Amino acid sequence: MRFTLMLSFIFSFSTLWGEVGAIKLITPIPSTIYHEETASVVVTFVSPLIDGVIISAESNQSSKIIRQKERNSYCKTVQLAPGENKITVSGFGKDGTIENISVLIFHDIVSEKIYKYPPEKYMEESFHTPTNERFCSSCHKMEVNEIPKIAFENPADSNCFQCHQKLTTRKYGHAPAINWLCTSCHEIKKELGDSKFTLPSMIGKTCLKCHDKESQKWETKRFHHMPVDSEKCTRCHNPHSSENKFYLKAKPWDICTSCHIDKREGKHVINTFGNKNHPTRDKPDPSRPGKEIECISCHNPHASDSASLIDAKSPMSICIKCHKK
Ligand code: HEC
Ligand code: HEC
Ligand code: HEC
Ligand code: HEC
Ligand code: HEC
Ligand code: HEC
Ligand code: HEC
Ligand code: HEC
Repeated sequence: MRFTLMLSFIFSFSTLWGEVGAIKLITPIPSTIYHEETASVVVTFVSPLIDGVIISAESNQSSKIIRQKERNSYCKTVQLAPGENKITVSGFGKDGTIENISVLIFHDIVSEKIYKYPPEKYMEESFHTPTNERFCSSCHKMEVNEIPKIAFENPADSNCFQCHQKLTTRKYGHAPAINWLCTSCHEIKKELGDSKFTLPSMIGKTCLKCHDKESQKWETKRFHHMPVDSEKCTRCHNPHSSENKFYLKAKPWDICTSCHIDKREGKHVINTFGNKNHPTRDKPDPSRPGKEIECISCHNPHASDSASLIDAKSPMSICIKCHKK
């Protein structure tokens, strides 16, 4: 079904010149949402006149693939920009462009208001359906080959590695992901039809499976942060890897103010002290040498015994952490 949809899409986007159906785009699936920063582009050369393709993405990155003997399908991981991404594949022959195909996909970024909510036409789609997998399996191993709880010594031995390696290459890697124990979160589903893995949106409680110690500690606290209580851990943490410590999806200040927009400016903390605002960034944090002040200098992101999630016994006792007499 997905392939018929895709064919009609291809026809509607074909150029007026050239040959319709000379190339076929297998992925990305049009109008899908990407939580991660990369997407796989897979293109098949249908017409013998095609000598190669140029794949270009929103990030101005483009790559050229030249046809090899006896190979009709080519794959490329592309980097996504925040928000809407137009990915264009141009098939060329010896006389120039034969066919252009474009798809639109959406990369959501939770820490930035304008990229947080994809427009309505975008949907969460699963890739790992039997039909899609059959197409890849002529060249790729699609079976799960991990042994629960046993890390791969060499990541490249994981069948998932070739297509998904970009997910684990950022500076700070989350243990189960960098050990390629993917199904510790993406459980294999029994029923067929949709993805064979539990979809990203359904993982939530999964974090607590391993982080039960932390969650038990948070349980005992009097005040809980709403998104933590509702197990939206990935609103703040990237489950695979990140350039930020604790695999945060962005710097803490940016994450916090993506929901608490009013705290970007305006008065905070010392609203009774005249017109001066208390800094929440860009100043050294006296309580944490080498670091700058940020929301989590004063607030615990998960839970606390003090109102307003203050990371101290009481709102006032937090002051002396930095303002010693
Ligand atoms: C004709 C054989 C063939 C088919 C069919 C095929 N691939 Fe590939 N794929 C390869 C080869 C070979 C590589 C290694 C890189 C290269 O030589 O292009 C690769 C690499 C990749 C990569 C990594 C690309 C990069 O930039 O690092 C991804 C992602 C990928 N394939 C996805 C897929 C998906 C998804 C499908 C099915 C929809 C698929 N491939 C079908 C042969 C194939
Ligand atoms: C032939 C390439 C290929 C291989 C091998 C592969 N994947 Fe994928 N996978 C994809 C593509 C393409 C997507 C769509 C998202 C994207 O482009 O990154 C995807 C998406 C997913 C998703 C999101 C849910 C879904 O169904 O869309 C999960 C989870 C996932 N892969 C896990 C795995 C795991 C675990 C393995 C190893 C057992 C694996 N993949 C092997 C190509 C591959
Ligand atoms: C700690 C749990 C966890 C582990 C381990 C994990 N994932 Fe994920 N994965 C998630 C969650 C949660 C999401 C949804 C991401 C989000 O909401 O930002 C996701 C999303 C994805 C997606 C969809 C990305 C997109 O663009 O929408 C792919 C593909 C994927 N994971 C592949 C893998 C592969 C391959 C591995 C093994 C290396 C792996 N995951 C390991 C939890 C995990
Ligand atoms: C399969 C077990 C497993 C699952 C599931 C899991 N984690 Fe982890 N996580 C670990 C291990 C192991 C570590 C590294 C040990 C450590 O440093 O605490 C870790 C470390 C972390 C850290 C850094 C802790 C630190 O002190 O450096 C964060 C943050 C984290 N995980 C968040 C998550 C989130 C969010 C999820 C759900 C999307 C999740 N984890 C799911 C096993 C898991
Ligand atoms: C509102 C954003 C947010 C949410 C939601 C969130 N975290 Fe965190 N988490 C953070 C921040 C920020 C840090 C870094 C704290 C620091 O630097 O001291 C952190 C640190 C951590 C750590 C390591 C340090 C520690 O406190 O133990 C773990 C483990 C962790 N988070 C797990 C989780 C799990 C599991 C969930 C879901 C139940 C979750 N987080 C939900 C923001 C969040
Ligand atoms: C996903 C959105 C979201 C993110 C991200 C987020 N919060 Fe919240 N936060 C909420 C919601 C929802 C509430 C509860 C509603 C309310 O009281 O406004 C809340 C409440 C709070 C409260 C008040 C708790 C109370 O008892 O009055 C504090 C303090 C707070 N958040 C701090 C932070 C900090 C610090 C960060 C960054 C680490 C952060 N938040 C990130 C959604 C978020
Ligand atoms: C210097 C310490 C400090 C810093 C930094 C700080 N806060 Fe607060 N915050 C407080 C105190 C103290 C309170 C309690 C004030 C009260 O009860 O009137 C509070 C209250 C809150 C509340 C709940 C009451 C309200 O005003 O809505 C939220 C939400 C909140 N802070 C979010 C943030 C966010 C987001 C940041 C980062 C942009 C931040 N805070 C930075 C000290 C701080
Ligand atoms: C995490 C450290 C931290 C905490 C906690 C903190 N402050 Fe501050 N505070 C600062 C920094 C940094 C400045 C800016 C100093 C500068 O401008 O160089 C500042 C400035 C101020 C100022 C402005 C006067 C001045 O020295 O410039 C007042 C008043 C103030 N804080 C009151 C409070 C009160 C009241 C609390 C408790 C509710 C509090 N602060 C908690 C770090 C902190």
